[in-house]
Amino acid sequence: MTPEEGQPLAGGHTAPVVRVGDTVRRVAGPWTPQVAALLTGLRAAGVAGVPEHRGLDERGREVVAWVDGDVPTYPMPSWVWDDAVLVDVARAVRSVHDAAAGLDLPRSGWRRPPVEPVETVCHGDVAPFNAVFTGARLVGLIDWDHAVPAPRGWDLGSLAYRFVSLTPPGHRDGRPGSGPPPEQWRRVRLLGQAYGGFDPVELVRWAVRHLEDLIAYSYAEAAAGNAALQLTIDAGHVSLYEGDLEWVRTLLAGAASPAHAGPTSPATICADSATRGSPPPGWEDPPTRNSPGTGERLAGRRKAADAPCEEVP
Ligand SMILES: Nc1ncnc2c1ncn2[C@@H]1O[C@H](COP(=O)(O)OP(=O)(O)OP(=O)(O)O)[C@@H](O)[C@H]1O
Ligand SMILES: [Mg+2]
Repeated sequence: MTPEEGQPLAGGHTAPVVRVGDTVRRVAGPWTPQVAALLTGLRAAGVAGVPEHRGLDERGREVVAWVDGDVPTYPMPSWVWDDAVLVDVARAVRSVHDAAAGLDLPRSGWRRPPVEPVETVCHGDVAPFNAVFTGARLVGLIDWDHAVPAPRGWDLGSLAYRFVSLTPPGHRDGRPGSGPPPEQWRRVRLLGQAYGGFDPVELVRWAVRHLEDLIAYSYAEAAAGNAALQLTIDAGHVSLYEGDLEWVRTLLAGAASPAHAGPTSPATICADSATRGSPPPGWEDPPTRNSPGTGERLAGRRKAADAPCEEVP
Protein backbone atom coordinates (compact mmCIF):
# COMPACT_ATOMS: atom_id res chain seq x y z
CA MET A 1 0.00 0.00 0.00
CA THR A 2 1.60 3.32 -1.08
CA PRO A 3 1.29 6.46 1.08
CA GLU A 4 -1.02 7.97 -1.57
CA GLU A 5 -3.35 4.96 -1.37
CA GLY A 6 -3.59 5.53 2.35
CA GLN A 7 -3.92 3.55 5.57
CA PRO A 8 -7.21 1.61 5.73
CA LEU A 9 -9.46 2.67 8.60
CA ALA A 10 -11.73 0.35 10.54
CA GLY A 11 -15.27 0.52 9.25
CA GLY A 12 -15.74 1.64 5.69
CA HIS A 13 -18.69 -0.69 5.42
CA THR A 14 -20.04 0.94 2.31
CA ALA A 15 -16.72 1.76 0.66
CA PRO A 16 -13.07 1.78 1.71
CA VAL A 17 -12.07 4.64 4.01
CA VAL A 18 -8.35 5.44 4.31
CA ARG A 19 -6.14 7.90 6.14
CA VAL A 20 -3.52 9.89 4.22
CA GLY A 21 -1.55 12.20 6.54
CA ASP A 22 -3.96 14.56 8.26
CA THR A 23 -6.81 13.66 5.90
CA VAL A 24 -9.38 10.92 5.38
CA ARG A 25 -10.22 9.78 1.82
CA ARG A 26 -13.22 7.84 0.63
CA VAL A 27 -14.99 7.15 -2.63
CA ALA A 28 -16.92 10.22 -3.76
CA GLY A 29 -20.53 10.02 -4.96
CA PRO A 30 -23.12 12.29 -6.56
CA TRP A 31 -23.92 13.54 -3.02
CA THR A 32 -20.33 14.67 -2.30
CA PRO A 33 -20.69 18.30 -3.55
CA GLN A 34 -23.76 18.75 -1.32
CA VAL A 35 -21.95 17.25 1.68
CA ALA A 36 -18.96 19.53 0.97
CA ALA A 37 -21.22 22.59 0.88
CA LEU A 38 -22.86 21.51 4.15
CA LEU A 39 -19.57 20.98 6.02
CA THR A 40 -18.07 24.20 4.66
CA GLY A 41 -21.21 26.14 5.55
CA LEU A 42 -21.37 24.69 9.05
CA ARG A 43 -17.75 25.58 9.77
CA ALA A 44 -18.25 29.10 8.39
CA ALA A 45 -21.24 29.40 10.76
CA GLY A 46 -18.97 28.57 13.70
CA VAL A 47 -19.63 24.84 14.12
CA ALA A 48 -16.01 23.75 14.46
CA GLY A 49 -16.77 20.17 15.43
CA VAL A 50 -17.39 19.04 11.86
CA PRO A 51 -14.46 18.05 9.65
CA GLU A 52 -13.16 20.49 7.08
CA HIS A 53 -14.01 19.35 3.55
CA ARG A 54 -11.03 19.63 1.20
CA GLY A 55 -12.58 18.65 -2.11
CA LEU A 56 -11.40 15.73 -4.24
CA ASP A 57 -7.91 14.29 -4.64
CA GLU A 58 -6.15 13.30 -7.89
CA ARG A 59 -7.88 9.89 -7.71
CA GLY A 60 -11.31 11.47 -7.46
CA ARG A 61 -11.66 10.53 -3.77
CA GLU A 62 -13.37 12.82 -1.28
CA VAL A 63 -10.88 14.46 1.12
CA VAL A 64 -11.85 15.55 4.65
CA ALA A 65 -9.62 16.63 7.51
CA TRP A 66 -8.66 14.07 10.13
CA VAL A 67 -10.26 14.83 13.52
CA ASP A 68 -7.94 13.94 16.40
CA GLY A 69 -9.41 11.86 19.21
CA ASP A 70 -11.05 8.50 19.93
CA VAL A 71 -13.87 6.99 17.88
CA PRO A 72 -15.44 4.33 20.10
CA THR A 73 -16.53 0.99 18.67
CA TYR A 74 -18.62 -1.90 19.99
CA PRO A 75 -18.41 -3.09 22.68
CA MET A 76 -18.45 0.56 23.77
CA PRO A 77 -16.24 1.81 26.60
CA SER A 78 -18.37 2.53 29.68
CA TRP A 79 -18.00 6.34 29.51
CA VAL A 80 -19.98 6.39 26.25
CA TRP A 81 -23.07 5.73 28.39
CA ASP A 82 -22.56 8.68 30.75
CA ASP A 83 -25.42 11.18 30.94
CA ALA A 84 -22.89 13.92 30.24
CA VAL A 85 -22.01 12.33 26.87
CA LEU A 86 -25.68 12.14 25.91
CA VAL A 87 -26.03 15.84 26.76
CA ASP A 88 -22.89 16.77 24.78
CA VAL A 89 -24.12 14.96 21.69
CA ALA A 90 -27.63 16.44 21.96
CA ARG A 91 -26.23 19.97 22.19
CA ALA A 92 -23.81 19.38 19.32
CA VAL A 93 -26.57 18.05 17.06
CA ARG A 94 -28.72 21.04 18.04
CA SER A 95 -25.88 23.39 16.99
CA VAL A 96 -25.56 21.58 13.66
CA HIS A 97 -29.31 21.72 13.01
CA ASP A 98 -29.62 25.39 13.93
CA ALA A 99 -26.70 26.35 11.71
CA ALA A 100 -27.72 24.11 8.79
CA ALA A 101 -31.26 25.54 8.82
CA GLY A 102 -29.73 28.93 7.99
CA LEU A 103 -27.64 27.70 5.05
CA ASP A 104 -28.63 27.98 1.42
CA LEU A 105 -28.41 24.31 0.45
CA PRO A 106 -30.30 22.33 -2.19
CA ARG A 107 -33.11 19.96 -1.28
CA SER A 108 -32.04 17.31 -3.77
CA GLY A 109 -28.78 15.66 -4.80
CA TRP A 110 -28.11 14.01 -1.41
CA ARG A 111 -27.63 10.30 -0.88
CA ARG A 112 -31.26 9.92 0.13
CA PRO A 113 -34.34 11.86 -1.01
CA PRO A 114 -35.36 14.67 1.34
CA VAL A 115 -37.52 13.67 4.29
CA GLU A 116 -40.57 15.90 4.58
CA PRO A 117 -41.26 18.24 6.24
CA VAL A 118 -37.72 19.55 5.74
CA GLU A 119 -36.56 21.71 8.66
CA THR A 120 -32.79 21.51 8.35
CA VAL A 121 -30.05 19.17 7.10
CA CYS A 122 -29.55 16.12 9.31
CA HIS A 123 -26.33 14.15 9.78
CA GLY A 124 -28.26 10.96 9.01
CA ASP A 125 -26.30 8.49 11.15
CA VAL A 126 -25.71 9.94 14.62
CA ALA A 127 -24.02 7.18 16.61
CA PRO A 128 -21.03 6.69 18.92
CA PHE A 129 -19.05 5.10 16.04
CA ASN A 130 -19.46 8.33 14.04
CA ALA A 131 -18.36 10.61 16.87
CA VAL A 132 -14.86 11.64 18.01
CA PHE A 133 -14.10 12.16 21.70
CA THR A 134 -11.20 13.31 23.81
CA GLY A 135 -11.42 12.50 27.51
CA ALA A 136 -15.12 11.59 27.14
CA ARG A 137 -15.92 14.99 25.61
CA LEU A 138 -17.32 15.18 22.11
CA VAL A 139 -14.94 16.92 19.71
CA GLY A 140 -16.23 15.86 16.33
CA LEU A 141 -19.03 14.31 14.29
CA ILE A 142 -17.74 12.40 11.27
CA ASP A 143 -19.12 10.29 8.41
CA TRP A 144 -21.48 12.79 6.77
CA ASP A 145 -22.29 10.68 3.69
CA HIS A 146 -25.88 10.14 4.82
CA ALA A 147 -26.61 13.83 5.42
CA VAL A 148 -30.08 14.70 4.17
CA PRO A 149 -32.59 17.57 4.34
CA ALA A 150 -35.09 16.38 6.94
CA PRO A 151 -37.00 17.29 10.07
CA ARG A 152 -34.81 17.61 13.17
CA GLY A 153 -36.35 14.45 14.62
CA TRP A 154 -34.71 12.38 11.87
CA ASP A 155 -31.36 12.68 13.70
CA LEU A 156 -32.88 12.51 17.16
CA GLY A 157 -34.32 9.07 16.41
CA SER A 158 -30.89 7.57 15.76
CA LEU A 159 -29.36 9.60 18.58
CA ALA A 160 -31.94 8.19 21.02
CA TYR A 161 -31.60 4.63 19.74
CA ARG A 162 -27.81 4.57 19.72
CA PHE A 163 -26.87 6.74 22.71
CA VAL A 164 -29.65 6.10 25.27
CA SER A 165 -29.57 3.15 24.19
CA LEU A 166 -33.10 1.99 23.34
CA THR A 167 -32.23 -1.69 23.48
CA PRO A 168 -33.60 -4.66 25.42
CA PRO A 169 -31.86 -5.92 28.57
CA GLY A 170 -28.72 -7.92 27.83
CA HIS A 171 -28.30 -6.48 24.34
CA ARG A 172 -24.73 -7.02 23.13
CA ASP A 173 -24.35 -3.40 21.93
CA GLY A 174 -26.61 -1.68 24.42
CA ARG A 175 -25.94 0.38 27.51
CA PRO A 176 -25.38 -2.07 30.37
CA GLY A 177 -28.19 -1.85 32.88
CA SER A 178 -30.35 0.30 30.64
CA GLY A 179 -32.95 -2.39 30.06
CA PRO A 180 -35.57 -1.23 32.57
CA PRO A 181 -37.98 1.14 30.80
CA PRO A 182 -37.89 3.80 33.57
CA GLU A 183 -34.15 4.29 33.05
CA GLN A 184 -34.56 4.49 29.29
CA TRP A 185 -37.38 7.05 29.64
CA ARG A 186 -35.20 9.07 32.03
CA ARG A 187 -32.38 9.18 29.47
CA VAL A 188 -34.77 9.99 26.61
CA ARG A 189 -36.20 12.85 28.66
CA LEU A 190 -32.69 14.10 29.35
CA LEU A 191 -31.93 14.00 25.62
CA GLY A 192 -35.07 15.99 24.80
CA GLN A 193 -34.18 18.62 27.36
CA ALA A 194 -30.55 18.89 26.30
CA TYR A 195 -31.58 19.34 22.66
CA GLY A 196 -34.62 21.42 23.60
CA GLY A 197 -38.23 21.20 22.55
CA PHE A 198 -38.74 17.43 22.21
CA ASP A 199 -40.85 15.42 24.59
CA PRO A 200 -39.84 11.82 25.37
CA VAL A 201 -42.72 10.14 23.56
CA GLU A 202 -42.02 12.15 20.40
CA LEU A 203 -38.36 11.09 20.59
CA VAL A 204 -39.20 7.41 20.97
CA ARG A 205 -41.56 7.70 17.98
CA TRP A 206 -38.61 9.06 15.99
CA ALA A 207 -36.50 6.11 17.17
CA VAL A 208 -39.18 3.75 15.81
CA ARG A 209 -39.11 5.60 12.51
CA HIS A 210 -35.30 5.48 12.42
CA LEU A 211 -35.22 1.72 12.95
CA GLU A 212 -37.99 1.11 10.42
CA ASP A 213 -36.04 3.15 7.88
CA LEU A 214 -32.71 1.48 8.69
CA ILE A 215 -34.23 -1.98 8.20
CA ALA A 216 -36.13 -1.09 5.01
CA TYR A 217 -33.09 0.73 3.57
CA SER A 218 -30.78 -2.22 4.28
CA TYR A 219 -33.09 -4.73 2.55
CA ALA A 220 -33.77 -2.41 -0.40
CA GLU A 221 -30.07 -1.67 -0.96
CA ALA A 222 -29.12 -5.36 -0.70
CA ALA A 223 -31.88 -6.29 -3.16
CA ALA A 224 -30.54 -3.65 -5.54
CA GLY A 225 -27.11 -5.31 -5.45
CA ASN A 226 -25.36 -3.39 -2.68
CA ALA A 227 -22.90 -6.04 -1.49
CA ALA A 228 -21.94 -4.08 1.63
CA LEU A 229 -25.53 -3.96 2.88
CA GLN A 230 -25.95 -7.67 2.04
CA LEU A 231 -22.94 -8.33 4.26
CA THR A 232 -24.51 -6.45 7.17
CA ILE A 233 -27.67 -8.55 6.73
CA ASP A 234 -25.61 -11.75 6.62
CA ALA A 235 -23.72 -10.68 9.73
CA GLY A 236 -27.00 -10.46 11.65
CA HIS A 237 -27.06 -6.67 12.14
CA VAL A 238 -30.45 -6.22 10.53
CA SER A 239 -32.07 -9.00 12.60
CA LEU A 240 -30.67 -7.23 15.65
CA TYR A 241 -32.37 -4.00 14.49
CA GLU A 242 -35.63 -5.92 13.99
CA GLY A 243 -35.52 -7.16 17.59
CA ASP A 244 -34.69 -3.63 18.79
CA LEU A 245 -37.61 -2.21 16.82
CA GLU A 246 -39.93 -4.60 18.66
CA TRP A 247 -38.43 -3.44 21.96
CA VAL A 248 -38.85 0.26 21.13
CA ARG A 249 -42.45 -0.29 19.98
CA THR A 250 -43.18 -2.05 23.27
CA LEU A 251 -41.57 0.82 25.16
CA LEU A 252 -43.79 3.27 23.31
CA ALA A 253 -46.90 1.18 23.96
CA GLY A 254 -46.13 1.31 27.68
CA ALA A 255 -45.48 5.07 27.71
CA ALA A 256 -48.71 5.81 29.51
CA SER A 257 -47.97 3.30 32.26
CA PRO A 258 -46.64 4.88 35.47
CA ALA A 259 -44.30 1.90 35.89
CA HIS A 260 -42.65 2.66 32.57
CA ALA A 261 -42.46 6.42 32.96
CA GLY A 262 -40.52 5.82 36.13
CA PRO A 263 -39.77 8.03 39.09
CA THR A 264 -38.25 10.79 36.98
CA SER A 265 -37.98 14.16 38.58
CA PRO A 266 -37.45 17.07 36.18
CA ALA A 267 -35.17 18.76 38.70
CA THR A 268 -32.87 15.72 38.76
CA ILE A 269 -32.70 15.76 35.00
CA CYS A 270 -31.94 19.46 34.87
CA ALA A 271 -29.12 19.06 37.36
CA ASP A 272 -27.81 16.17 35.29
CA SER A 273 -27.92 17.98 32.00
CA ALA A 274 -26.21 20.99 33.49
CA THR A 275 -23.27 19.00 34.85
CA ARG A 276 -21.00 20.48 32.24
CA GLY A 277 -22.63 23.88 32.11
CA SER A 278 -21.57 24.62 28.56
CA PRO A 279 -21.58 22.95 25.17
CA PRO A 280 -18.53 20.84 24.36
CA PRO A 281 -15.60 22.71 22.75
CA GLY A 282 -16.23 23.30 19.08
CA TRP A 283 -19.99 23.20 19.52
CA GLU A 284 -20.63 26.62 21.03
CA ASP A 285 -23.78 28.22 19.69
CA PRO A 286 -22.97 29.33 16.18
CA PRO A 287 -23.52 33.03 15.37
CA THR A 288 -26.37 32.11 13.03
CA ARG A 289 -28.28 30.29 15.77
CA ASN A 290 -31.96 31.13 15.62
CA SER A 291 -31.40 33.69 12.88
CA PRO A 292 -33.76 33.49 9.92
CA GLY A 293 -30.90 32.51 7.62
CA THR A 294 -30.88 32.47 3.86
CA GLY A 295 -31.97 28.91 3.31
CA GLU A 296 -35.04 29.57 1.18
CA ARG A 297 -34.57 26.28 -0.61
CA LEU A 298 -34.61 24.46 2.70
CA ALA A 299 -37.18 26.64 4.38
CA GLY A 300 -39.84 24.65 6.13
CA ARG A 301 -41.41 24.26 9.51
CA ARG A 302 -38.87 25.38 12.09
CA LYS A 303 -39.17 24.18 15.64
CA ALA A 304 -39.13 26.89 18.25
CA ALA A 305 -35.79 27.13 20.03
CA ASP A 306 -36.16 26.15 23.65
CA ALA A 307 -33.68 26.48 26.45
CA PRO A 308 -31.53 23.33 26.64
CA CYS A 309 -32.47 22.71 30.23
CA GLU A 310 -35.89 23.51 31.52
CA GLU A 311 -38.54 21.81 33.53
CA VAL A 312 -40.74 19.42 31.63
CA PRO A 313 -43.71 18.07 33.56
N1 LIG B 1 -12.55 12.80 9.69
C1 LIG B 1 -12.16 11.77 10.45
N2 LIG B 1 -11.35 11.97 11.50
C2 LIG B 1 -10.94 10.92 12.26
N3 LIG B 1 -11.29 9.65 12.03
C3 LIG B 1 -12.07 9.39 11.00
C4 LIG B 1 -12.56 10.42 10.16
N4 LIG B 1 -13.33 9.85 9.21
C5 LIG B 1 -13.32 8.54 9.46
N5 LIG B 1 -12.56 8.24 10.53
C6 LIG B 1 -12.28 6.89 11.08
O1 LIG B 1 -12.53 5.95 10.07
C7 LIG B 1 -13.60 5.08 10.44
C8 LIG B 1 -14.46 4.81 9.23
O2 LIG B 1 -14.95 6.03 8.68
P1 LIG B 1 -16.48 6.34 8.45
O3 LIG B 1 -17.19 6.34 9.75
O4 LIG B 1 -16.55 7.59 7.68
O5 LIG B 1 -16.90 5.15 7.56
P2 LIG B 1 -17.92 3.98 7.88
O6 LIG B 1 -18.97 4.40 8.80
O7 LIG B 1 -17.17 2.79 8.26
O8 LIG B 1 -18.47 3.83 6.50
P3 LIG B 1 -19.94 3.57 6.13
O9 LIG B 1 -20.78 4.42 7.02
O10 LIG B 1 -19.99 3.96 4.72
O11 LIG B 1 -20.11 2.11 6.39
C9 LIG B 1 -14.35 5.83 11.53
O12 LIG B 1 -15.05 4.96 12.37
C10 LIG B 1 -13.23 6.55 12.23
O13 LIG B 1 -12.56 5.70 13.12
MG1 LIG C 1 -19.04 5.50 10.32
